Amino acid sequence: MDQRNSMSDHFDLNHWCNHYLAHVEQALDNWVSVDASADLEHAAPAELMGAMRYAVLDGGKRLRPLLVFAAFEAVSSDLTLVSVPAAACDAEAALRAACAVELIHAYSLVHDDMPCMDNDVLRRGKPTVHVEFGEASALLAGDALQALAFELLTPDAAVVPVGRQARLCRLLARAAGCAGMAGGQAIDLASVGRALTEDQLREMHQLKTGALLQASVMMGVACGDATAKAQQALQAYGAAMGLAFQVVDDILDVTADSATLGKTAGKDQAQDKPTYVSLMGLEPARLYAQTLFDQAMAALASSGLPDTRALQGLASLIVQRSS
Ligand code: IPE
Ligand code: IPE
Ligand code: MG
Ligand code: MG
Ligand code: MG
Repeated sequence: MDQRNSMSDHFDLNHWCNHYLAHVEQALDNWVSVDASADLEHAAPAELMGAMRYAVLDGGKRLRPLLVFAAFEAVSSDLTLVSVPAAACDAEAALRAACAVELIHAYSLVHDDMPCMDNDVLRRGKPTVHVEFGEASALLAGDALQALAFELLTPDAAVVPVGRQARLCRLLARAAGCAGMAGGQAIDLASVGRALTEDQLREMHQLKTGALLQASVMMGVACGDATAKAQQALQAYGAAMGLAFQVVDDILDVTADSATLGKTAGKDQAQDKPTYVSLMGLEPARLYAQTLFDQAMAALASSGLPDTRALQGLASLIVQRSS
């Protein structure tokens, strides 16, 4: 798992992403499975597990897991704080954190697509979970993915120390809950057909999307050791990129087609959702995403961390992505 680059090495973001993506795909495939519950008294029903696997595997950019690893690497690059015997344990925690945040994200997509929310039929290039398995199964698959995320974060204490488990659970629970993703989704639904102020829209986007992306960064930090200065800087990086991510999602809803996105394009306007494009127009929204990127880069520069290239690369990817 050690992908640390010395500053003199050339940094290849593609190579870096592929390395971690392979680990994440393998780990998700193992953990979201009937086999993973083999030691439990009761196995998961096959149909429910089928819906969970459909929601999680074969698709998705895995940006949140990549942010966990990038932040973990960035704090681990501060060699004055790294203790070598702890490194393997830290890497296990980072892999669990990366998968846990992706499970919460996958659950949020399953519920976001349901008829009672955005009523979408296409996700990650496939029919949505409720279309494929029915609404009740989609609801339960989302519930079970959320529970599984927290199970992953709480292995035996020998695998991840309990203090670190508690920090990771708290970060993820806050980002997923009423003052995070679920809260933002509630505001989103209540805002249909309404013109929000810029402050209100920013708040909604920070909660529904930004919180989980920022938590991904801070969970990576929590898997290692970081100075207060570095923590503050990465918190600011996560806030800027979390918001930028949803600004770009709003832009792509207007500019990209469904085949490229793997989800139905043009939904925001069709459903009269307030977005950065409806609030400020396409070009100003693009400029705003760039401003947030610049803020994220300034935060990294102030972190005092010797190697933040993966975080820089992912930030570019977030603002320049086409899907
Ligand atoms: C889509 O997220 C939902 C939002 C929070 C805007 P992603 O664009 O990260 O979706 P996947 O995981 O790649 O499918
Ligand atoms: C969803 O925002 C945010 C979530 C918490 C899932 P959107 O509704 O804009 O996401 P997409 O465009 O359907 O992926
Ligand atoms: Mg939505
Ligand atoms: Mg949606
Ligand atoms: Mg969207």
